[in-house]
Amino acid sequence: LLVSSQEFYTGLIALAYAPLRGTVAPSEPYERFVRRYGEPALEIGCGHGEPLLDLVAAGLDVTGLDSSPDMLALCAAEAQRRGIAVTRVCQRMELMRLDRKFRSIYFAGPTFQLVTEPEAALEALTQIAAHLEPDGRALIPLFTPSQTDPAMFGEWREHTFPNGDMVAVTTLDQSYRVNEQRVDTTLRYRRGSADSPTEVVDRVWSLCWYVNGSFEQLATRAGLAVERVIDHGSFGQSFVLNICAA
Ligand SMILES: C[S@@+](CC[C@H](N)C(=O)[O-])C[C@H]1O[C@@H](n2cnc3c(N)ncnc32)[C@H](O)[C@@H]1O
Repeated sequence: LLVSSQEFYTGLIALAYAPLRGTVAPSEPYERFVRRYGEPALEIGCGHGEPLLDLVAAGLDVTGLDSSPDMLALCAAEAQRRGIAVTRVCQRMELMRLDRKFRSIYFAGPTFQLVTEPEAALEALTQIAAHLEPDGRALIPLFTPSQTDPAMFGEWREHTFPNGDMVAVTTLDQSYRVNEQRVDTTLRYRRGSADSPTEVVDRVWSLCWYVNGSFEQLATRAGLAVERVIDHGSFGQSFVLNICAA
């Protein structure tokens, strides 16, 4: 049942991601970031292509990186549907090895928090530093997840595709550990109707979060410095990082 971050978004969960996601990230802040700090750019955790494809369609040189071949296959299909040519790389951020450097590296949401092991998070930041041009910037949004109200356990969120296929998700359980800054949420995904599901998958979705400057400390260890913090109120903060002038 326990899966690591790069295995979570596969199979039925990749299929269900877009129809069941809560909010769609607007592409505008990321387009502004790339226009300000320059190309080429790298979107980490690009998944099925939001906002990656909008930025490429706007004429920007952006590569998408994601660890899930299933999410990247959906991205390829959507790119083809929109007539967009986009470079996609299937690698884990903490192990990424690309043969070019970038002036802008960004996450379009708090995907960095899916890397819950501190050593892997440090390695991900180290690889971001290694792939930044000397005057490049990285944009990393972070937030503090809230606890799911147990009254919501067992409530299904459903989506019906135009062909009549259905996908649905519910929270079965959650372990929210403030002291460890870690939440493990057990989700049940279902394909097909409640009466006759054709596939049921239970998967644990894990997130960590950062308190008291611990993210800044990790960034420093990776050779990055926080240049600026953008406050999004209850949606968290985005950190703009550059390479430490050592
Ligand atoms: C919340 S989703 C974001 C999806 C994306 N915005 C989209 O339009 O589909 C997080 C994405 O991060 C990817 N991911 C998770 N862990 C990763 C890792 N260690 N390295 C690279 N990508 C990862 C997942 O495969 C997933 O596609």
